[in-house]
Amino acid sequence: MTTHSLLLLPGDGIGAETIAEVERVIAFFNKTAKSAKFETDTDLVGGAAYDKHGLAISDKAMAKAMKADAVIFGAVGGPKWDGVPYEVRPEAGLLRLRKDLGLFANLRPAICYPALADASSLKRELVEGLDIMIVRELTGGVYFGEPKEIVTLEDGQKRAVDTQIYTTHEIERIARVAFDLARKRSGKVHSAEKRNVMRTGVLWNEVVTATHKAYAPDVKLEHILADNCAMQLVRNPKQFDVIVTDNLFGDVLSDEAAMTTGSLGMLPSASLGAPDAETGKRKALYEPVHGSAPDIAGKGLANPIATIASFGMALRYSFDMAKEADRLDRAIAAVLAAGLRTADIMQPGMRQVGTADMGAAIVEELSRHAA
Ligand code: IPM
Ligand code: MG
Repeated sequence: MTTHSLLLLPGDGIGAETIAEVERVIAFFNKTAKSAKFETDTDLVGGAAYDKHGLAISDKAMAKAMKADAVIFGAVGGPKWDGVPYEVRPEAGLLRLRKDLGLFANLRPAICYPALADASSLKRELVEGLDIMIVRELTGGVYFGEPKEIVTLEDGQKRAVDTQIYTTHEIERIARVAFDLARKRSGKVHSAEKRNVMRTGVLWNEVVTATHKAYAPDVKLEHILADNCAMQLVRNPKQFDVIVTDNLFGDVLSDEAAMTTGSLGMLPSASLGAPDAETGKRKALYEPVHGSAPDIAGKGLANPIATIASFGMALRYSFDMAKEADRLDRAIAAVLAAGLRTADIMQPGMRQVGTADMGAAIVEELSRHAA
């Protein structure tokens, strides 16, 4: 029996409530899975870490994250910390985790559950059966490029600079992740950049083209300008399968794709590092795409599905437990099909439940089909 170590970082806002439901799912697998057990530890990140340590994440929590087989992350941020210094704002904790763990590949599936097709702001026929995978570069680009500063000019005005930087290596390794994923899906990749305005876009386009030729000629590749991609995502989202793009475009396009599915509260993500040369293991962090939703925090209203499905991605990508991951995905779909809804996805004629009831229903559904 293998034991996998998980570091739980609930963070702020609804993070604590949604991670509590993941703990329920973990307890279920610990009771029933025959091949593996999970051991968990918990620490602070974001505003919660700032309140205690004056930092967005402590070195001790970082060390735990480095050692864990996977990190399960809730959410960070909220109006309470609007005034804190930029370096220690809640989001800095997440960015440090991504950077220091080398989590360059961010996988953001946008899947439309059949039961929720009417909750989308797009027409049912446009989104029913939608299944897109956005592959976002996560440790480079304008998020981390230097200089990144605000300077005061001689005439008293200020000038702000952010720097977009990409190297061949960074583009090639994320392109490979996208091609590998496409091979297991419909075999099609769209690469989105702004080569018409940005030098990094020109290089991105060149390197993706070369990587495609050398590494994945069997996959179909199309280049698309990022603004056109944004437009096409709401015009005809089903034309896409895998979309590979940089850190900033990926941030924006993944929120857009997520919303076409009906609710941000439904979607998980995985952030993966390179496989270790000796063990083959990747550092990994799993988190919902949604944020900390301070307006509903602590009220038991949050939708725990994105965070639970993020744990499902951990089963799939970190622990080679695809069967269990499939079972968890099916349990989520079944609970939705049975009419249970949290407030964010409530529809007429359905039964509204809170965070804990949704988590409990998913576990109950899992137990019903336990092998
Ligand atoms: C995301 C978030 C983060 C990002 C924030 C919280 C720093 O929007 O994961 O998409 O911009 O990457
Ligand atoms: Mg975002």
